[in-house]
Amino acid sequence: MENRHKNYFHIEPDKGLLNDPNGLIQFKGKYYFFHQWNRFDTSHDYKEWGLFLSKDLVNWTNIQSAILPDRYDDKDGVYSGSAIENDGKMYLFYTGNTKLNGIRKSYQKIAVSNDGRTFIKQESTIETPEGFSEHHRDPKVWKKDNKWWMIVGAQTKENVGAITLFQSDDLLTWIYEGIFYTDTILDQMCECPDYFTLTDGIEILMVCPQKRTSGRQSDRPISSYAGYLVGKMDYKTNKFNQSTEIKMLDEGFDFYAPQSFLDDKGRRIIVGWMSRMDENQERNCPTVKDGYLHCLSMPRELKWIDNHLYQTPLKEYENLRKKEQEYKNEYGTISNNSKAFELIIDFDEAIKDFSVSLNSNTNPIIYRCGKLEIGRINWVTEKLETKILQVKDLTKLHIFCDSSTLEIFINDGQYVFSMRYFCDEQNRNIEYKSLNEKGMINFYSYEEENE
Ligand code: FRU
Repeated sequence: MENRHKNYFHIEPDKGLLNDPNGLIQFKGKYYFFHQWNRFDTSHDYKEWGLFLSKDLVNWTNIQSAILPDRYDDKDGVYSGSAIENDGKMYLFYTGNTKLNGIRKSYQKIAVSNDGRTFIKQESTIETPEGFSEHHRDPKVWKKDNKWWMIVGAQTKENVGAITLFQSDDLLTWIYEGIFYTDTILDQMCECPDYFTLTDGIEILMVCPQKRTSGRQSDRPISSYAGYLVGKMDYKTNKFNQSTEIKMLDEGFDFYAPQSFLDDKGRRIIVGWMSRMDENQERNCPTVKDGYLHCLSMPRELKWIDNHLYQTPLKEYENLRKKEQEYKNEYGTISNNSKAFELIIDFDEAIKDFSVSLNSNTNPIIYRCGKLEIGRINWVTEKLETKILQVKDLTKLHIFCDSSTLEIFINDGQYVFSMRYFCDEQNRNIEYKSLNEKGMINFYSYEEENE
C-alpha cells in the first residue's frame, strides 16, 4: 500500500525530508509557510527552503523549492530563519551554513521578494560575533519603535547556549548589540529562538535548548525540546529579563523548532516541526519507504489566560468537518475507518477517571488520579510507549487525528500533546469508557465517504 501514512491536513513533502518551519508570514493575502527541506532524500545532508502556500491555513499548495544553497556563503545548507514585510516587500532572513575542510562557518543572510515568487539574495552578511562558536543560526526579526531587531541562536565559546541581538534601520545593515539572553538552561546551544509580545503585553521568548553528548559536535541532537520563558525585553540594556522558569511548549513525543507569526486577524500563531525522533527512529520511520519524512504541526493560536500560555486550534479547521456524530453514553464505540477526524470530549466539569482508545487500540489515553497517560506503539521497538502528564482538573480533550499524527489539546489548550504514530489497521474504531453524566462527545470525520 503506497503512502498509507500520508496526512490529510498536515504539511508534508511529497518527497525528501522536511524539518523546521521557516519564514512564516501572511503576505498579500496569502499564508507563506517555508520549511527546511532536503528534496533529494530523507537524510539531513542537504538543506534548502521549500514553500507551501494557503489562503485559509488549512488547504495548502506545495510550491516546492524557494531558496537554494547556491552561493559560497550558504553552500552547505540554507538553514532556518524568518520573514517580515516592509514597504510591500517580503524580507527573508536565513542562515547560510558552510563547511570548509570540516570547519563550520555561519552567515546570517537576507533575501528580498516583491511578488512572493522570486527571492533575491542580498549581498549583506552578518558574521558571528566574537566569543561565540560557529553554531550561530536561525535569525528571527521584529520591529519596535521604527527600529528592526534580530535575535540569533548561539553557543558561547564556553559551550553554553545563548541568543545574540542585532539592530538595523534599513533591514540590510545590522549592528551587533550583545547577548540578548543566556543561561545554562539553554544547554550547549539555543536553536530557533523567537521573541514576541502577546496582545495583553505578555512577552514570550521561545527557545530550543539543544543537548549533545559531551564534546561531540555532530549535527544530531540528543534530546532537544521546545520551551518558553516569560519576561521583558529591556530596550536600554538590550537584554531579555526572564520572570519565569522555562516551560515545555508541548508535552508529547514530537514537537520542535516552533516559529510564530502574527496574522491580519491579530492572532499570534505558532507552527512546529513534528519530530523529536532520534536517528534510529528517523531511519526506521515507515514513511521513509515511500520516499519522504516528517511534517509540520497544525498552526496553533497562542493566548495568555489566567497566568498561563494556552495554545488553541484555529477556527479554520471547522471547515474540514464532514460528518458529525454525538455520543453521551457512559461507554461506547465509535465505529470509524476514517484516518482524519476530530474528537471533542467535553466533560463540562473536572472528572476523576476516563479513558479513550484511538486507532484500533494503538493510542490509549487514560486519565486517573490526576494523571493523563498517552501512548503510541513505538515503530522501532514495536512496543507501547507512554508519557504521563499531571493534569489536576481534566475538563476537556480536543483531539485532532490525521493519518499519522495526533495533536491533543487538553483543557482548551492548557497543555498540548503532539505525536507521530503509524498504524496499519484499516479499522480506526474509537472506544471510550466512563464518560461522566454531564459529558458529551462530538466526533467529526474529515473524509467524505469512508472507504
Ligand atoms: C533545528 C535546526 C536549526 C537549523 C536547521 C537545519 O531543527 O537544527 O537550528 O537551522 O535545523 O536544518
